[in-house]
Amino acid sequence: MLLFLFVKHASSFSSYVQADTSCLHWLLQKYFNFWHFLITALFFFSFFSGMELRRDFGSFHVSNVQELLEIPEEQFIPVKFPVDLPTFENYKEQTVPFGKRIRKDHFFLEDQVTFINHGAFGAVLREALETAQAWQTYIERQPLRFFDRELLPQMVNISRRLSKFVGCDATDLVLVTNATTAINCVIRGINFQKGDTIFFLSTTYGAVKKLLKEVSEEKELHLQEVQLVPPVTCKEQIIDLVDSNLKSGTRLAVFDHISSNFPLVMPLKEILPICKKRGVPVLVDGAHALGSQPLDLHSLQPTYYVSNAHKWFCCPKGCAFLYVDKQVKQTVRPLIISHGYGSGFNSEFIWAGYGFMDNSCNYLFIYLNFSSVCLLIIYLSIYLSIYLSIYLSISVFLLSICLSAHIYLFICLFAIYLSICQFSLCLYLSLSIHIYLSIYLKAKVVETVSLHDYTPFLAMHVVLNFWESLGEKVIHRYMKTLLNEAALHLKSVWQTRLAGPLEMFG
Ligand SMILES: Cc1ncc(COP(=O)(O)O)c(C=O)c1O
Repeated sequence: MLLFLFVKHASSFSSYVQADTSCLHWLLQKYFNFWHFLITALFFFSFFSGMELRRDFGSFHVSNVQELLEIPEEQFIPVKFPVDLPTFENYKEQTVPFGKRIRKDHFFLEDQVTFINHGAFGAVLREALETAQAWQTYIERQPLRFFDRELLPQMVNISRRLSKFVGCDATDLVLVTNATTAINCVIRGINFQKGDTIFFLSTTYGAVKKLLKEVSEEKELHLQEVQLVPPVTCKEQIIDLVDSNLKSGTRLAVFDHISSNFPLVMPLKEILPICKKRGVPVLVDGAHALGSQPLDLHSLQPTYYVSNAHKWFCCPKGCAFLYVDKQVKQTVRPLIISHGYGSGFNSEFIWAGYGFMDNSCNYLFIYLNFSSVCLLIIYLSIYLSIYLSIYLSISVFLLSICLSAHIYLFICLFAIYLSICQFSLCLYLSLSIHIYLSIYLKAKVVETVSLHDYTPFLAMHVVLNFWESLGEKVIHRYMKTLLNEAALHLKSVWQTRLAGPLEMFG
């Protein structure tokens, strides 16, 4: 609108003075038509594109991630996918041909292998890996478009979808590359005081124990490791162990959902209320849970929950999630502080790139928008003063003609007018520098951030399609049957005991 007025005003003024002098006409044509139009357009482009950046997605401005995650489900419009996502709709109408057929059609596994250890490293779903690769190819066709514009809305989209699958609010879940990273974020975020106690069972994953040891040495904490020795006769044995050993005032309790070398599902439904009653926050290491157990975090109510999607869920490698209870979200920070810092829990985790801009990127955009406003004010005042001086010159000129004298006065005023024009040219120059700087710095931010591969997260849509089409319950039932058969088979072949009752196996 303003641009329109400027242009309209400039051209009407030039036609008004056309009759007066051809020299003035030339000047006005030169300064007020082409340049005026161009610079005004550039100025407004720069100004509004600066504003656009604040509201749009970009590696350096992520506060709107939070807003998108908070949109109610019925109002949320998911972004489109630039790559094809397989749907597996055919499995909705037929009995799933588990076993060799599924392995052949949907996995890369060798024919002679019976792969049962998705717990160590999961075998990826064929279509998911192919989708991740399709994303990678797509990204490389225009990397800036993807990282700067498309990545974060896509990440929001998949976070929302996964949170529905595991039964929690999208704002309480972040995607991370693995369980170890997530556990580190939780442990390092807790404000432990000297002498605080961390409770855990002896079956806790080795790497987690090492982390606890390191933190306890650094912060002088007490580690309470309670021995859980197989065989377990019933789940009450574990519940009692926790009940009799966990003291209120314990700063943190850590439980595996399914421990790594001890294949029993922990009775979390019973353990967690005990911890809650004693005011003890709980970190559940569910590295093996997603895909092998139905998850409903709303009803389980852990303080922190971590799971890998690249084990039993069959996502491409480097895909996990961290859930954090709303009450303690402000304490959990990513290990790498980056552009999302200060913009909310999800924004802080969503971009793991780091580069020279760090916090200063905020200042860059404050600078860009502030300088845009300043330039607008200066520009308007100069603009008005030029017009005033022109009107004044013309008035004086007409007056001097009427009075048939004072031609020198006119020349003088005209010189003032010209100098103002020169000044406005300087302004145009500074404006150009401003535009150049903003474009250059914008490019620089993107150039210098370090990236990681986000495609495993994006390919999770395919894995979710697979699970939803085949049916989560159907898959779990099949896996459980297979697991029981395998356990009994090994028991008889190895002439050994089971580590616990079959119904606790996971
Ligand atoms: C119980 C448990 N916690 C954590 C982890 C670590 O998972 P990641 O290596 O994906 O971080 C594992 C890995 O096998 C595990 O078994």
